[in-house]
Amino acid sequence: MAYVVGLTGGIGSGKSTIANLFAELGVPMVDADIVARQVVEKGSPLLAQIAEHFGATMLTEQGELNRAALREKIFQNEAEKNWLNALLHPAIRQEMIAQLQAQMADYVLFVVPLLIENNLTALCDRVLVVDVLPETQLERASLRDQNKRELIQQIMLAQVSRERRLAAADDVINNDGDLTQTLAKLRQKVLELHRSYLALSRQKTK
Ligand SMILES: Nc1ncnc2c1ncn2[C@@H]1O[C@H](COP(=O)(O)OP(=O)(O)OP(=O)(O)O)[C@@H](O)[C@H]1O
Ligand SMILES: [Mg+2]
Repeated sequence: MAYVVGLTGGIGSGKSTIANLFAELGVPMVDADIVARQVVEKGSPLLAQIAEHFGATMLTEQGELNRAALREKIFQNEAEKNWLNALLHPAIRQEMIAQLQAQMADYVLFVVPLLIENNLTALCDRVLVVDVLPETQLERASLRDQNKRELIQQIMLAQVSRERRLAAADDVINNDGDLTQTLAKLRQKVLELHRSYLALSRQKTK
């Protein structure tokens, strides 16, 4: 299996921004958010099970998952939420592992917002954390989706603390500076990390 670098960070920290800089260098990626959508894509066995359990209103006219309808079913219903998680989590994990194993490159970037929360560090050879001040997270995340600050704060509280995340990190990229001033620096930092991951991945295969 390729050398796996887990990339994580709190909501709005800049994971996607940093992942894009690795993509510029041609680094392949497995993205947990994408996998989570793939396992319930149109025609998938899991989507059929969801429709069987919660009813046909779980499907749109196009046969896709009606996310709003599903969210309503599990909202404040622990039992149904647990049922759904028990269905989805093993499938997502299995698909992530399959995609990681299919990579032929020296190393693969494994982008997972809840890497630490969901104990996925065990799948990683190395953990890279994008770190910003909580104020920065709050500001950028609420700006982006015009989300209420209270909602972002709630999500931040449900995620691991900055301290715990940093404690799990092998490498840290600080992303507090404004992109207009620091993009070149971030790109340089990503290039340095890229070189070190290439070297580490070669040690692994020896
Ligand atoms: N250094 C920066 N300066 C200014 N804005 C930034 C910077 N880094 C990221 N942003 C902006 O902040 C927002 C959050 O960044 P990004 O989407 O990369 O974070 P994320 O960690 O992937 O978020 P999420 O957890 O929601 O997926 C985006 O709108 C992005 O354009
Ligand atoms: Mg993102």
